[in-house]
Amino acid sequence: MSLAILSSVVLLAPTVSSLVLPDGVGRLPALGWNSWNAYHCDVSEQKVVDAANLIVSLGLKDAGYEYVNIDDCWSVKSGRNANTSEIIPSPTTFPDGISGTADKIHDLGLKMGIYSSAGTATCAGYPASLGYEDIDAASFAAWGIDYLKYDNCNYPSQWNDQYRWCIPNHSSDVGPNGTCLDITNPAPPGYNWATSNSTKRYNRMRDALLAQNRTIQFSMCIWGTADVQSWANGTGSSYRMSEDIEPNWARIMLILNEASFIMNYVGFWDHADTDMLEVGNGMSAVEERSHFALWALMKSPLIIGTDLANVSDAQVALLKNPYLLAFNQDPVYGRPAAPFKWGTNPDWTWNKTFPAEYWAGEFSNGTIIAMVNTRSSTVKKTAEFKDIPGMQNGKVYELTDIWTGNILGKFSDSYTASVASHDIAVVLAQLATKGHESWWDWWSWWTWWVVHRRG
Ligand SMILES: *[C@@H]1O[C@H](CO)[C@@H](O)[C@H](O)[C@H]1NC(C)=O
Ligand SMILES: *[C@@H]1O[C@H](CO)[C@@H](O)[C@H](O)[C@H]1NC(C)=O
Ligand SMILES: *[C@@H]1O[C@H](CO)[C@@H](O)[C@H](O)[C@H]1NC(C)=O
Ligand SMILES: *[C@@H]1O[C@H](CO)[C@@H](O)[C@H](O)[C@H]1NC(C)=O
Ligand SMILES: *[C@@H]1O[C@H](CO)[C@@H](O)[C@H](O)[C@H]1NC(C)=O
Ligand SMILES: *[C@@H]1O[C@H](CO)[C@@H](O)[C@H](O)[C@H]1NC(C)=O
Ligand SMILES: *[C@@H]1O[C@H](CO)[C@@H](O)[C@H](O)[C@H]1NC(C)=O
Ligand SMILES: *[C@@H]1O[C@H](CO)[C@@H](O)[C@H](O)[C@H]1NC(C)=O
Ligand SMILES: *[C@@H]1O[C@H](CO)[C@@H](O)[C@H](O)[C@H]1NC(C)=O
Repeated sequence: MSLAILSSVVLLAPTVSSLVLPDGVGRLPALGWNSWNAYHCDVSEQKVVDAANLIVSLGLKDAGYEYVNIDDCWSVKSGRNANTSEIIPSPTTFPDGISGTADKIHDLGLKMGIYSSAGTATCAGYPASLGYEDIDAASFAAWGIDYLKYDNCNYPSQWNDQYRWCIPNHSSDVGPNGTCLDITNPAPPGYNWATSNSTKRYNRMRDALLAQNRTIQFSMCIWGTADVQSWANGTGSSYRMSEDIEPNWARIMLILNEASFIMNYVGFWDHADTDMLEVGNGMSAVEERSHFALWALMKSPLIIGTDLANVSDAQVALLKNPYLLAFNQDPVYGRPAAPFKWGTNPDWTWNKTFPAEYWAGEFSNGTIIAMVNTRSSTVKKTAEFKDIPGMQNGKVYELTDIWTGNILGKFSDSYTASVASHDIAVVLAQLATKGHESWWDWWSWWTWWVVHRRG
């Protein structure tokens, strides 16, 4: 274990070309709440402050959730301040200004996030920041903003990319590994998307934020376009890697499929954002826990997206699952879990209904193994340890069910679970130290016995 910890520190040490912010901000995935999935455009200071109070009273703050993020629709829609060109907070929904809301959030020991777009209007048509990056970044800093979600709507055509990038969400567009087949004007092989106009639009806001005397985490909401995973490292702390999430199983699977192909790119300071959580928004209990477990294991930012006044105790417990949060927030291991086997389909099959089902990842406390059932009836699923990076056939592991905390026993080559439709088995595997399974263990045990039997 200690050797593995050492080598991953060496391999993943941040370098100059990552966006490295002070105090480790952005090194680990962000944890927080955002207004959109619960309220869409119907957002107000009252709702945001209520959410912040519930984050504290439900124990979510103690579990690590810290950002309270206002999404779209917070400003005067008709335009900027005619004299200063600043965006004007809506006086009806944010009567204390964004700075007044931020003060209340900060008083609770939480951080304040806001939203804009790398275009001339936000997705809902409010003033946005393309061409106004310096002015808006200065406003955000002056108001006490700690996090910017930066969307990709409404940029003028002169900002179009030279080549077209497809969002491979439709099977007819998609070849092996999500490559686009039938788009016009695709980029030539080897094209460097870091030189694209999309990259420039996002780099402008990164630079404006870095020029402020305030640390503001930069969350790029770029929907997986412009090959963002290849250049996001130096631009933002996280990047949306797909189209929007919805509270239904089909959309969870569609995003999981796309994400399963880019886990190689994820590490410290550099997180694929699989979009905000839909826990509390109408999926079944097993679907919610599959969704949350997979999002946590992929080291996505975990941004709660529901009305916290309505969540059940079970949903709060899910959002606080100590094993999944410890994996997501591990300070030593930057790499996410990744698929070690697809399951229903052959490995590396692009399929938005039956994506990769067998996932595993190493962290400071062992290895987490997850098996999701994409089918419509209960199936038995088996994880073979020899298929899992970092695990070895023949070694004895103690397994813990992370949903109950119950120890399942000792296993040396595989683990089989019966998994209900759309549910997920998630276990923690730890090398059993009292198993005497190796010569060294026998030797240690024997010398211990020799020394202690005399006492
Ligand atoms: C712009 O400046 C003028 C002149 O000082 C003032 O009358 C007006 O109220 C200002 N407008 C805004 C939106 O602040
Ligand atoms: C960026 O946009 C300009 C103006 O539309 C266009 O001429 C140029 O080809 C684009 N550059 C890239 C790298 O896509
Ligand atoms: C795929 O994504 C594009 C761009 O976001 C969208 O216009 C289109 O409707 C999507 N298609 C499907 C089938 O979801
Ligand atoms: C898909 O991607 C994986 C991982 O990068 C690679 O091993 C595999 O060969 C790719 N398959 C195809 C058909 O390109
Ligand atoms: C930056 O902010 C800190 C604390 O808010 C302040 O002490 C410092 O003077 C500021 N520096 C500049 C260059 O404005
Ligand atoms: C981030 O950039 C650094 C420097 O180029 C590189 O070493 C590292 O592998 C990148 N991280 C990821 C996850 O690609
Ligand atoms: C939350 O519960 C209240 C009262 O039961 C209800 O009026 C409201 O619509 C619920 N909100 C959501 C987002 O479900
Ligand atoms: C680490 O594993 C131990 C069991 O060995 C368990 O009691 C503990 O809760 C785990 N902690 C985390 C954060 O996973
Ligand atoms: C997805 O996988 C299922 C199960 O193998 C298969 O029946 C289906 O045809 C696949 N869908 C596509 C679009 O290839």
